[in-house]
Amino acid sequence: MPDTPSSLSPAGDRHFDGLADKFADSLYGAARGELRLALLDRLLPEMLDLDGQPVLDVGGGLGQLAAWFAARGHPVTLAEPSGEMLERARARLAGQPVSLLQAPLQALPECAPGPWRLIACHAVLEWLADPRSALATLAGLLAPGGQLSLMVFNRDALRMSNVVKGNLEKALADRLEGTGKRRRLTPISPLTHGQVEAWAAESGLAISAVAGIRVFHDYLRQPPSSAADRARLLALERRYCRVDPHWRLGRYLLYTLEASPTHPQEPLP
Ligand SMILES: C[S@@+](CC[C@H](N)C(=O)[O-])C[C@H]1O[C@@H](n2cnc3c(N)ncnc32)[C@H](O)[C@@H]1O
Repeated sequence: MPDTPSSLSPAGDRHFDGLADKFADSLYGAARGELRLALLDRLLPEMLDLDGQPVLDVGGGLGQLAAWFAARGHPVTLAEPSGEMLERARARLAGQPVSLLQAPLQALPECAPGPWRLIACHAVLEWLADPRSALATLAGLLAPGGQLSLMVFNRDALRMSNVVKGNLEKALADRLEGTGKRRRLTPISPLTHGQVEAWAAESGLAISAVAGIRVFHDYLRQPPSSAADRARLLALERRYCRVDPHWRLGRYLLYTLEASPTHPQEPLP
């Protein structure tokens, strides 16, 4: 199929209109999506204080994470700017306690101000032109002591996988990010751990937990070919996803960021 023209939003973000099929097939239709969900299923209860509180799922896409929270008794508000993604989420989530809101992250202070005790924003910041101010916006939606489950595409892992695949010139030139202009799923703003640390601190958020999602899978020369090997790989991913240095090269970095009990803080003079 030919590439569709750019659909960057006026803010320069890559809304997923025109990408829903490709995203559904290449991530959630494949082993890597299954692995991501299996890891989250273990990690989210370990990394978050879950007590059935309402959740705002920002850039909720096809609704897998919203379904996970809803199945555990959380009322969920799924915000998503792409009408195409939202329609698929609506079909998946029929009958579940999930409200759908067609809105970009930048509109949430007006559309869903909360304050929220729990916000999830998974695999979204890397599709935005200005992920730093997006993180500040999310911080502003949190209640005092609230938690943000943030997952971002890891720029260092992108370099590593390019080198492993033999894309040496691209890696040496550090031309790692996508343009968002075609039907490609290479993010326009892959992030480093250092950026998340710095931007969280300036937004008054503390990192209380971190993990790598797919610390081994994306570097394999051969995908596991039997169910027994797939189970061994999952066991390895689970064992090492929070262990230094392995988490640092996870394809995604998963954080719990916490607002202080006196949040929001006064801006520094
Ligand atoms: C890679 S998908 C992730 C979807 C889902 N969170 C998940 O983990 O499966 C990125 C999503 O971010 C959405 N997105 C892009 N720009 C956005 C923005 N400014 N605000 C909120 N979501 C945005 C896209 O439309 C897309 O659905």
